[in-house]
Amino acid sequence: MSDKAILEVNGEKHEFPLITGTENEVAIDVKALRGSTKGVITLDPGYKNTGSCESAITFLDGEKGILRYRGYSIEELAEKADFLEVAYLLIFGELPNQEQLDKFHADIKSHSIVDDDVKKILDAFPKAAHPMGVLSSLTSALTAFNPSSVNVDSEEDMYNAIVRILGKFPVLVAWTMRKKHGLPLEYGDDSLGYVENVLKMMFKSPNKDYEQNDILVNALDKLLILHADHEQNCSTSTVRITGSSHAGLFVSLSAGISALWGPLHGGANQAVLEMLEAIKEDGGDTKKYMAKAKDKSDPFRLMGFGHRVYKNFDPRAKIIKVAADEVLGDLGVEDPILDIAKGLEKEALEDPYFVDRKLYPNVDFYSGIIYRAMGIPVEMFTVMFALGRLPGWIAQWKEMRMRKEPIGRPRQLYTGETLRPFTSIENR
Ligand code: CMC
Repeated sequence: MSDKAILEVNGEKHEFPLITGTENEVAIDVKALRGSTKGVITLDPGYKNTGSCESAITFLDGEKGILRYRGYSIEELAEKADFLEVAYLLIFGELPNQEQLDKFHADIKSHSIVDDDVKKILDAFPKAAHPMGVLSSLTSALTAFNPSSVNVDSEEDMYNAIVRILGKFPVLVAWTMRKKHGLPLEYGDDSLGYVENVLKMMFKSPNKDYEQNDILVNALDKLLILHADHEQNCSTSTVRITGSSHAGLFVSLSAGISALWGPLHGGANQAVLEMLEAIKEDGGDTKKYMAKAKDKSDPFRLMGFGHRVYKNFDPRAKIIKVAADEVLGDLGVEDPILDIAKGLEKEALEDPYFVDRKLYPNVDFYSGIIYRAMGIPVEMFTVMFALGRLPGWIAQWKEMRMRKEPIGRPRQLYTGETLRPFTSIENR
């Protein structure tokens, strides 16, 4: 194969190098485009064809339905690793040995106290506030309580910032939920594993001991692993681009949380459950909602279906579908919306509209059903996604800073008015 691409602009030929990734993906390197063509740019709204960076963290082949973190398949990681090992893998590039993992966990625990004054900020939010907005604000506010900026050239500084946020973030997650439900705010329990601690902080009742349930711990661990990274999606790109201005780690993460909130991205897990509930309330007529999803004059979309990159089964959805059956079975929960979800999936996979557009269930289609069976309130679903995605955001922010990437600053094609004289107010 040739190692260059040739582009003809106004009769003049320009050559651009082709870059090949380790999985043989090919990119045209257009860094010199504007200079050599004297001002011509590429236009690609939504970045459907545009790579924003080179990255060695996550590999995704949407046509084949492959997802790997640092070369390890998502299927193997979900089965054999735990969330903290996966976090370490994503952030530092290799699976930790036992000693490294123990130290990592101990360092995270040593940072698991959130300044008590953060509770005052939380108190100022109305109970009705969506936990994602609260979480984004509190994550940003952490900067004020940990003001020293990270020297990214210092491995120690970088490490400390990473374990600090991994320690404090689960506390914020739990507090956003407890505030909404009028429960006293708890700190964690250092004798517990990372995921066990999250569950205890979220669900401990003030008047009785909290009993760990291995089914919940294992289910949450798996869900967090499946959400831990997904290369250059909307929120991750937001984290990278925010950090590219050399804004700190916590505010970059806060920006990522805001981006994740939207229903086309992480907010889809809440939207899926609300959609399934609405279908149930409406008599369970899935055909009616399939018709709505296909009707271009109707804004309704089948939430949890379709993906920008996957044009095949989302491998995460396959794992979650099996997990949903297992977790509901283990917990003895019978949820009629699981049957509605399965019915919708079956219909969509046989429907030419969905088949032609390669629309398959994505990670969010079944995750909400598991969260609900675990007793997690629906408005917390996207917060749980953020908890899982945290190591991925950190890894991507770190990679961006270590590679000394330039500030993210897209170009545009201006389509507004050309120069016109100012009209004074009395003449308008
Ligand atoms: N229901 C009905 N039609 C759909 C759907 C859907 N869920 N998704 C895409 N389409 C149609 C869309 O109308 C368009 O049709 P046409 O070619 O006739 O105009 C075609 O499929 C392509 O869709 P698109 O919106 O151009 O694709 P996109 O890559 O810009 O959007 C998406 C991807 C995920 C935003 C979209 O599929 C969607 O809105 N899905 C529902 C929301 C959802 O489940 N999001 C979670 C994504 S996975 C979690 C994460 O990582 O964020």
